[in-house]
Amino acid sequence: MPRPKNSMQLRNQHIFITGGSSGIGLSVARQAAVAGARLSLVGRDAAKLSAASATVRAETPSTPEIVTIPADVSSESAVLAALQIAEAVHGPIDILITSAGVARPGYFEEIPVSVFERTMAVNYFGTLYAIKAVVPSMRARAHGSIVLISSGAGLVGLFGYTPYAPSKFALRGLAETLRAELKPAGIAVTIVYPPDTDTPQLIEENLTKPPETKALTAGGGLWTSDAVARVTLDAVRCGRFSVTPGFQLTILSWLHSLIAPILHWSFDRVAARARREADAKGTSK
Ligand SMILES: NC(=O)c1ccc[n+]([C@@H]2O[C@H](COP(=O)([O-])OP(=O)(O)OC[C@H]3O[C@@H](n4cnc5c(N)ncnc54)[C@H](OP(=O)(O)O)[C@@H]3O)[C@@H](O)[C@H]2O)c1
Repeated sequence: MPRPKNSMQLRNQHIFITGGSSGIGLSVARQAAVAGARLSLVGRDAAKLSAASATVRAETPSTPEIVTIPADVSSESAVLAALQIAEAVHGPIDILITSAGVARPGYFEEIPVSVFERTMAVNYFGTLYAIKAVVPSMRARAHGSIVLISSGAGLVGLFGYTPYAPSKFALRGLAETLRAELKPAGIAVTIVYPPDTDTPQLIEENLTKPPETKALTAGGGLWTSDAVARVTLDAVRCGRFSVTPGFQLTILSWLHSLIAPILHWSFDRVAARARREADAKGTSK
């Protein structure tokens, strides 16, 4: 059977991964290396990048040079500089994966505006800058794949995620619009909506999650970063647009607007119960 037009094999492809030093981004890097890709990894912390590179190399000793570039994706100039470094080693980027992201849950009124601004700067603009930077060369070569890592919180607004959910909703708007614009240029766009995934970010989130948020996310199960990476790279291979790991998120993505009134009713009940339980235990603010 012929492969779909937007499909992409990973062998010899240059994959540029923001947030490639940890969690989902690192799992994608490890699996892409096994598939024979050439890697460039971006994160802020040079030590984490070195450790990630060593992990990938230990698992796949034959992998070509892994370019690691410390950069903050919320700075457009830093993203452009990182891209130049990566391209100097491995040539133009074939596949861009924007996994760099931050989340700081809490009650809306207790979160300073600076957190909202920073979340949007990293999650939305950090993604936008990288896409802006790669599209011209992808268009020129009529070849490329762009993967945005959103979140289940980019499909439905969840109690406690007022800084995070809008940044991930924004990625959905960007991806849907870009999909249409870039398809004629031969560039595939994929957006991934991971559920709770066992990564350092989730551990960090759990430190400030209100009890209502914990109750609401408890039912969704916990994915491994390897499993999320697997469905992500499968989507790249076959040119799929939307990736909703698991049954719940798939149903949510199909029916969200239709079942929104039921969802709101159900979410409110779970949140109210969690509030009562937290009050009874005296553990909440
Ligand atoms: N874990 C979950 O439950 C979950 C669920 C849905 C969606 N997601 C999304 O999945 C993506 C990956 O998250 P993860 O769970 O794998 O988290 P993680 O393990 O904490 O990894 C986050 C990565 O992003 C990098 N990063 C963070 N801020 C950055 C910045 N300003 N500039 C450059 N790199 C930055 C981190 O490196 P440095 O710290 O060194 O910069 C790290 O490599 C995020 O977009 C997240 O929102 C996660």
